[in-house]
Amino acid sequence: MTKILVATDKPFAKIAVDGIRKEIESAGYQLALLEKYTEKQQLLDAVSYADALIVRSDIVDSEVIGAGENLKIVVRAGAGFDNIDLDTATAAGICVMNTPGQNSNAVAELVFGLLIYAVRNFFNGSSGTELKDKRFGIHAYGNVGRNVARIARGFGMEIYAYDPFLKAVDIEKEGVKAFASVEELYSTCDIVSLHIPATTETKNSINYQLLKCLPKGGVLVNTARKEVINEQEMVKFLTERTDCKYVTDIEPANHAQMKEQFPDRYYSTPKKIGAQTAEANINAGIAAAQQIVDFLKTGNQKFRVNK
Ligand code: 3PG
Repeated sequence: MTKILVATDKPFAKIAVDGIRKEIESAGYQLALLEKYTEKQQLLDAVSYADALIVRSDIVDSEVIGAGENLKIVVRAGAGFDNIDLDTATAAGICVMNTPGQNSNAVAELVFGLLIYAVRNFFNGSSGTELKDKRFGIHAYGNVGRNVARIARGFGMEIYAYDPFLKAVDIEKEGVKAFASVEELYSTCDIVSLHIPATTETKNSINYQLLKCLPKGGVLVNTARKEVINEQEMVKFLTERTDCKYVTDIEPANHAQMKEQFPDRYYSTPKKIGAQTAEANINAGIAAAQQIVDFLKTGNQKFRVNK
């Protein structure tokens, strides 16, 4: 029987797994579940029996793809697919998809959780600041960026965005001022929220040169990827700019150093939780299951991300 493996180091909520199971079994397929695995070998063993694979940020490298002798499709239940070796998948004839937009609201809501924590001085009891009337910059105006803008409106913020892949007119019709350069965004906004994917071009791109553009009291919030931050230069920036803060949902490699050096101006969640809500799990997990069923039954490749 066709087997669909859900392999999640960070498991979905039970209600989402139940929904995924229903989609898969009602299509006549079998669900295999591998959650909270501790060894890569467990994933390699499980994938060797799978026709299709659903993952989150789990690493699907050439070894995993090689072990999946029957694999036809891998769906990343989420937005970013930098955890999947697309070239190897393509060479192996495997279709890779993501589920764009399905967990965006959850990530966007967390942005404001982190921001309030930051501007209220990590709840240490001292006098903080408010979000209202602050200039808020959205770095990349995709699905998460749009949700972030919607929530920022409720806080009464002035909203700006930079996205090199969109026309200014398309951003501005949503009441958001578009900048033509990333430097303008960083030098104008009191708070910048990162929503860029980790690609060859963006890795390490949030560097000292850019960060130092932030105005006095600037805050950077990162719910995107740790790889886009130049971590050494972030240390240099926070060392020099004692007025600025960095809050993130993706623990940097130099977390211990950051925590030690900037206890009042740096915070990272212990585990990426942006998309970790029942709603986002249901949306992304069920979309992934439906996309797989559709692909296996009809060949639909609508959300394919590899060539
Ligand atoms: C995404 O790319 O969809 C988000 O970063 C969420 O990732 P996660 O599924 O590992 O929580």
